[in-house]
Amino acid sequence: MSEIKVCVFDAYGTLFDVSAAARALSEEPGRAAFSKVWQQVAADWRAKQLSYSWLRAVARDYVDFWQVTQDGLDWALERAGLADPELREALLGLYWQLAAYPEVPAMLAALKRGGLQTAILSNGSPAMLEGAVESAGIGADLDAVLSVEDVGIFKPDTRVYDMVGARFGCTSDEALFVSSNGWDAAFGAAYGFDTLWVNRAGEPVDRLGSVPGRVAHDLTGVPQIVGLS
Ligand code: LAC
Repeated sequence: MSEIKVCVFDAYGTLFDVSAAARALSEEPGRAAFSKVWQQVAADWRAKQLSYSWLRAVARDYVDFWQVTQDGLDWALERAGLADPELREALLGLYWQLAAYPEVPAMLAALKRGGLQTAILSNGSPAMLEGAVESAGIGADLDAVLSVEDVGIFKPDTRVYDMVGARFGCTSDEALFVSSNGWDAAFGAAYGFDTLWVNRAGEPVDRLGSVPGRVAHDLTGVPQIVGLS
């Protein structure tokens, strides 16, 4: 196995805690209706956001991730009977004020101290990613923030994974690709990356043509995986 030179992270649900942001909103005063259904809304929103990205990729009908994020939310709110413009704006605003999971800053700092290169590789549009990186305060320990917008297609199209080699001049097996999406880690493994699936929720493994190389509950062990203690 090659030495890992680059650690590449998915963004939403991997580095950035979207669900904590939705929960915090549900706990605000005046949000009684949303607080009863926020988990279903958050789950529907994520499922539709992703399925719209795949459907539009298959149909060659690309719009950016901000658009499918809004479209997925509109579906989820209508299903919950909560089609309220103020709530919609508040939920969309969360994407620009995300926090990183607690272990992320120390993990990234350890990788940089150890001489690794680090990047985000995300479906997110450049503006969305810039907002999240800034609000989470992790920009100083990232060498690159790669958005699918440069190739005009979503994960798991291999043109997205190609962006890593193009940016860092590494082979696929010199990169550790880390994602909380089982399908993303599985297709990353098929592509040739060393992969880590961050399975925070203890979900079953996706039934696809390949499986993630490694599985962990959070990101704490990433420096160890790449040979740093
Ligand atoms: C991303 C989504 C898939 O950041 O989580 O690309």
